[in-house]
Amino acid sequence: MTDLSAVPPVTPSVLVVDHPLVQHKVTLVRSEDTTTDNFRRLVREISQLLTYEATRDLAMETISIKTPIAPMQSPVLSGKKLCLVSILRAGNGFLDGMLELLPAARVGHIGLYRDPETLEPIEYYFKIPEDIHERLVIVVDPMLATGNSAIAALNRLKEAGVSTLKYVCLIASRQGLRALQAAHPDVAIVTAAIDEELNEHGYIVPGLGDAGDRLYGTK
Ligand code: URA
Repeated sequence: MTDLSAVPPVTPSVLVVDHPLVQHKVTLVRSEDTTTDNFRRLVREISQLLTYEATRDLAMETISIKTPIAPMQSPVLSGKKLCLVSILRAGNGFLDGMLELLPAARVGHIGLYRDPETLEPIEYYFKIPEDIHERLVIVVDPMLATGNSAIAALNRLKEAGVSTLKYVCLIASRQGLRALQAAHPDVAIVTAAIDEELNEHGYIVPGLGDAGDRLYGTK
């Protein structure tokens, strides 16, 4: 019989990208004085900087090419193709920037809203590429608050056969991180900040407010 106490727990990786450019932009994006157009631009820029870190371990292979001067062996991406999955609607603010860096990635969308009473996610939309189970999937949503939506989205993707997943957000609450790690210990998480609190409405404190409203100017 296996002695389970000897098996180390699966420790999912959480990467907080503390690069000065990211941290500077996070401060600007948090400020209530930031206008809708600047907010949108900053979210796009931060998403690209986080993508840079989230894709750091992509598989590579070497191919033969010729420069105008000489033949050479040079590295290119190989391995699983990518699919980005946006949790609507704020995820789309992240998606735009990421697609500029990963133009060949396929895209899925999961529509979830939070029941205002229970804060539980209710699914209203689910559209993913047919071959998603063959891809490395990066799920994006700027705010990891309770973790309920993230967990529900990852559950749905695993049900669809996806086995390699990452989760990228702008701000994570400590509580949301714990919940997500407990439910999906195999999923690596990349974030620009961890905030300690959630308020009674499930908003991250200090956070940045409602990411969807700020992206789309709906409030
Ligand atoms: N969603 C948001 O947009 N902001 C939060 O603080 C939490 C969830």
